Amino acid sequence: MKKVPEIKIKLTDVTERLDEGYLLLSELRKEADAPVVKARLLNKEVIAVYGEEAAKKFYDPRNFKREGAMPKIVLKTLFGEDGVQTLDGKAHEYRKTIFMDLMTPKRMEEYHRILDNNLSHKLNQQQGEFELFDLAKDVLFRSICEWAGIDLSKMTRAEIDRVAEYQISMISSAVTNPATHIKGIENRKKSEKWAQKLIEDARTNPVAGKEDVALYAFANATDDQGELLPIDVAAVELLNVIRPTVALTVWIALMGHALFSRPDIYQRLRAEFDKLQDSFIQEMRRYYPFFPMLPAFAKQDVEIDGYMIPKDSWVVLDLYGTNHDERTIESPEIFRITRFIGKEKHISYDEEYEMIAQGGGKFKAMHRCAGEWITLHTLRVFSDQLVNKYEFSIPEQDWAIPMNQFPTFPKDKAVLYKK
Ligand code: HEM
Repeated sequence: MKKVPEIKIKLTDVTERLDEGYLLLSELRKEADAPVVKARLLNKEVIAVYGEEAAKKFYDPRNFKREGAMPKIVLKTLFGEDGVQTLDGKAHEYRKTIFMDLMTPKRMEEYHRILDNNLSHKLNQQQGEFELFDLAKDVLFRSICEWAGIDLSKMTRAEIDRVAEYQISMISSAVTNPATHIKGIENRKKSEKWAQKLIEDARTNPVAGKEDVALYAFANATDDQGELLPIDVAAVELLNVIRPTVALTVWIALMGHALFSRPDIYQRLRAEFDKLQDSFIQEMRRYYPFFPMLPAFAKQDVEIDGYMIPKDSWVVLDLYGTNHDERTIESPEIFRITRFIGKEKHISYDEEYEMIAQGGGKFKAMHRCAGEWITLHTLRVFSDQLVNKYEFSIPEQDWAIPMNQFPTFPKDKAVLYKK
């Protein structure tokens, strides 16, 4: 077995190279000429792995655990503390089941219907130039709140805009400059306060028949010992549904890029919509950068791609690199709308390791994203309305997608014009 090679560059501390963004880890692999590389990040040694085989090993709970692996800077903004992402073993599976039980086919149909109505209402009102990014943020926040049982009718428009913006801020402040990071921490606190009040109200005013609705499910949720979750933890979990759904704003802006900066993709999808819609969505999730990497600690010595990763190593799985891995994906740099035709069963099936934009593995037993169905319904509703139901013209704009910003989306946020 080979030893993980040290990277032969002067600056082994990659903390200073973070502005290479999504391409940093593939650059390190090129420099080391190896699929497994070691570097220093945030004053700690880290081993980076990528690809289908690495993902299988990474998700196997005998090999890796999550507790303590996520840097505090990410927990204090993006995820929140003591949420499902930080749990392992039985405690994780118990908590994760609460999320997965919300995603029944019936409840997904309801989400689809709510989003479809809200989006067409918003697009019908739209006149002239608008940013698809801003429109999506508003529609997604209102739709997920409605689906989750959160009544926004007592909030002013300005308050709604503010709380929707906090969700984006928590994401975009995780890895950035110190000022934006501090703002993100403040916005997470404000957001948690908002969610805590909702949980408290739901506990004092339970509504019969709403047990499978997110707000009430988290308000009544217990831990694996049968204890009611503390209000702050229940609030973090409620936000674990609201925030990532609003984060879909980013994928909608990227969908804008695919459809409106690439007339070939738009024309092809429009011509064969029913045949291509799900393959288009899957290719979008694979092709564009979103969640860059995931950290864990090795629980035992693990062999990946012929390299020995010693027990207790801090390891990151490169998601973007896996979705662009030439060893398993042909011409990964080409957006191929037909790539996933005939592979529809791969969409949200319970053992995915090749296309892992939202994580891989099993939904309940592992840390795989709980929101894949909400994501698919969202991308289906938006692609249908943008392609089939409305006509837009496309103003001159900067479609560049910076690779050194998280999350990333077209510079001008996908500007459209509607008569
Ligand atoms: C976990 C990505 C949308 C809820 C994750 C993970 C990723 C991810 C990479 C980590 C997987 C891991 O740790 O192994 C995304 C992306 C989304 C998205 C790119 C699109 C914007 C959603 C939505 C929801 C959601 C819409 C909820 C409705 C969660 C939860 C977890 C998670 C609760 C934690 C799962 C666990 O630790 O067991 N997501 N997600 N996500 N996601 Fe998503």
